[in-house]
Amino acid sequence: MSREPEFGLPQDSPDFVREVGDRVTSIISDCLVTRTTQSITDPTPVAEIRALFYESLPREGTDHQQLLDLFADQIVPHTLVNTSPGYLGLMNPTPVTMGIFADALTSLINQNQAASHHSPAGSVIEEVVIRWLGEAAGYGADCHGHLTSGGTVANLTALKLALHHAAPEVRDRGLVAAGQKFTVYASDQLHFSIERSVDVLGLGRDALRLVPTRGDATVDPKVMRSLIEADRREGMEPFAIVGIAGTTASGAVDPLPELADLAEDLGTWYHVDAAYGGAAGLSRDYPGILEGIERADSVTVDAHKWFFVPFVAGGILFRDRSFAEEVFQNAAGYIPPSEAADLPPTDYLKQGLAGTRRFNALKVWMAFKHLGADWYASVVDRQLALTHRVAEVVASLPDWEVAIQPTTAIVTFRYEPATLRKAIEGGGEEGEKAAKKRDRLQIRIAKVIQQEGRFWVSAAPVPGGFALRLNVISWLSDEALVEAFLAELPRYAQEAAPGFD
Ligand SMILES: Cc1ncc(COP(=O)(O)O)c(C=O)c1O
Repeated sequence: MSREPEFGLPQDSPDFVREVGDRVTSIISDCLVTRTTQSITDPTPVAEIRALFYESLPREGTDHQQLLDLFADQIVPHTLVNTSPGYLGLMNPTPVTMGIFADALTSLINQNQAASHHSPAGSVIEEVVIRWLGEAAGYGADCHGHLTSGGTVANLTALKLALHHAAPEVRDRGLVAAGQKFTVYASDQLHFSIERSVDVLGLGRDALRLVPTRGDATVDPKVMRSLIEADRREGMEPFAIVGIAGTTASGAVDPLPELADLAEDLGTWYHVDAAYGGAAGLSRDYPGILEGIERADSVTVDAHKWFFVPFVAGGILFRDRSFAEEVFQNAAGYIPPSEAADLPPTDYLKQGLAGTRRFNALKVWMAFKHLGADWYASVVDRQLALTHRVAEVVASLPDWEVAIQPTTAIVTFRYEPATLRKAIEGGGEEGEKAAKKRDRLQIRIAKVIQQEGRFWVSAAPVPGGFALRLNVISWLSDEALVEAFLAELPRYAQEAAPGFD
């Protein structure tokens, strides 16, 4: 029996590789052009998309050109074009071009970054990119850690480290051996991954103690301290404080130095979730945004958010590698041990949740090496300036208000026609009804914008109610694009408002 489909060239032949490579390159090149003009949203109903793809397991192969046609003609048109400069949405960046190709090269060598003897250069490169992420975020290059599937797993890893720090006996004998009611403290603006983590760690979601935020969506350390002290009096055992450096909804940055003081005072682990905000550490025009991050025991920084590396490349950083290796140690006799060395190579299997691990560090390494930290700094500064510009213009528009002033490249704002504002200010039942109506209006405006397909912003709950949420997350977005969006904003509100109830 032939090992190749009859119609095809052998899949490892140079001719085949060139044919596929040329075609893939031309698809990539076309998409990089069309992403700037293509509608961001695709209105095709899911039933129609299912109809395109549902089939039983193919018994026979498909010609490679036909397969690539399917990608170009049936998959690309049904994507959300979050790579567009007009995508001012969630934390899904336009990937840098070298990152796109690095993904193919990663698959080519298919290193398993579990043990360094299966990825000799790859393991070292991962050490390097972790140090670079530490330096970029202001945590400092003198750190360890690893790439993860995302901020969610990075946060889970951090909380596991924190729990082991408080109660090492839990690793072998379970929570029952510790006999304590462990608790974690974070602002009510946290990402859901923290809540999920306490559940996965067996602590129960009640172990997460949410601290109400101030009007600017940051946590008040004094309020957090009072809650912790009260909980201690009730017999709870606080083991971690989480500071957020760039909240998901509004990009707010908690007062990191004060939270570091609090954690130091109370002797708890201090984790900073900079999954999104990490790149702000590179800013030259807006210095000090992440001040205090350097005092954390662990930090989440995702290269696949504000560093524009294609998915996936989350990251967890910490200071103490041997501590992490103690936490995650497992006997795996079938994997040969790495040779001892002056500085032992990193076997990532020993310091995190994953077994087989992809060489995702390559795309992070190529992105930084190709573009340089100065390029990143200038893009971050431009994005911050554009975000401040949105805040400034929105504040000057009649019937619009900025909900949370930007600290990072996210700004939230809302449309509030005078009649609604008056009713809300009047308070009482009518005021509450009007506030709910105002919330629904923001959701509707976001929908109008999304449906048009030129720009994409979301609506998000922030202190004070729902607001439109704009995140300059594409490195392609520029002044002209932002001005064009701002010019359309009153029209979007007008289109959303009629018949609105
Ligand atoms: C602050 C914060 N932490 C963690 C995460 C989770 O990251 P991921 O989606 O990569 O798992 C997010 C995602 O948006 C986030 O905004």
